[in-house]
Amino acid sequence: MKSAITGGAGFIGGHLVEHLLAQGDEVTVLDNLSTGRIENLDRVMDHPRFRFIEGNILDRAAVDQLVKGTDRVFHLAAAVGVNLIVENPLESLRTNIHGTEVVLDAVLDAGASLLLASTSEVYGKNTSDSLDEEADRILGSALKSRWTYAAAKGIDEAFAHSYWKEFGLRVAIVRLFNTVGPRQTGRYGMVVPRLIKQALAGEPLTVFGDGLQTRCFSYVADVVPAMTKIAEKPQAYGDVFNLGGSYEISILSLAQRIIELLDSTSEIIFVPYEEAYAEGYEDMRRRVPNNGKAHAFVGFDPQTTLDEIIINVADDQRRAAQEQGAGIMVGASVN
Ligand SMILES: NC(=O)c1ccc[n+]([C@@H]2O[C@H](COP(=O)([O-])OP(=O)(O)OC[C@H]3O[C@@H](n4cnc5c(N)ncnc54)[C@H](O)[C@@H]3O)[C@@H](O)[C@H]2O)c1
Repeated sequence: MKSAITGGAGFIGGHLVEHLLAQGDEVTVLDNLSTGRIENLDRVMDHPRFRFIEGNILDRAAVDQLVKGTDRVFHLAAAVGVNLIVENPLESLRTNIHGTEVVLDAVLDAGASLLLASTSEVYGKNTSDSLDEEADRILGSALKSRWTYAAAKGIDEAFAHSYWKEFGLRVAIVRLFNTVGPRQTGRYGMVVPRLIKQALAGEPLTVFGDGLQTRCFSYVADVVPAMTKIAEKPQAYGDVFNLGGSYEISILSLAQRIIELLDSTSEIIFVPYEEAYAEGYEDMRRRVPNNGKAHAFVGFDPQTTLDEIIINVADDQRRAAQEQGAGIMVGASVN
């Protein structure tokens, strides 16, 4: 099988590349290395079935080069992370809306199938106990940059669905809920790697707002195989599937658990949203997925516990720091 991945040098993309190569695929990646890092591909760069193209999804010629002769495409390239979206609203909108349109057109012309990576952000402020795929979307003002990610991804889904309906494009959609794991960076507002990095460095863990907002974190190694299985099933075309974690935790409890588990000396400090982000920032109080559809469809049943996630991410950060000779100072022991 020939697979192509946009955004394959990103956090999830790097794991997907390794998974597909292990399955025996030929894999080609297109990435502009904006938030992605070439180090995410270190393990595969010399693999005989791997090819990397540096380029932008807004460039149709580059996307054509990626999809030519491929059987399937995983579209992961996007402007991701609240900080990035708030700081670069226009470029983010162009990447997340027009970029996806370019990919849809190129995949249609190439006769390949497509898996589109969408997000739980599309549900916005819906705090339901169990968000299923039909749940209503409750978004803030269109003029608040924070919501443009959710708005753009919603448009992407609608685009994909229309290409399926009107042109017969073989496209399925997954909505990822706070996917975390090794190699994710905290640079663009991702909470788990950021808090773990602070705990390892003995710095205060910065919890935004009152810390009582909750999330369900899912582990990248649980999510990536499910993405692939969904991409392989023709019954998924034209449809959408949640892929999230099953354990709900507040950000304050997450910070406390990280300190405890990593035996860190750090304290927790609260940072008002106005200081953490631009004025008028709104957060979701709660985000709980219903994974029932993906469970019934491909047996999605995430097994990695939050403690295992924290330990694995901390181990990865220590390893990376050692490699860079940065020498993170911490007396943490992880059993
Ligand atoms: N990590 C999560 O929790 C999460 C949650 C929901 C959805 N998603 C979706 O999963 C996908 C991957 O996210 P991630 O967490 O790996 O983020 P990431 O930032 O690590 O990956 C995105 C990749 O896209 C690349 N990219 C950005 N703009 C590009 C452009 N114009 N042309 C080419 N490449 C470009 C970046 O360099 C990066 O490698 C995204 O579509 C994101 O919306 C992620």
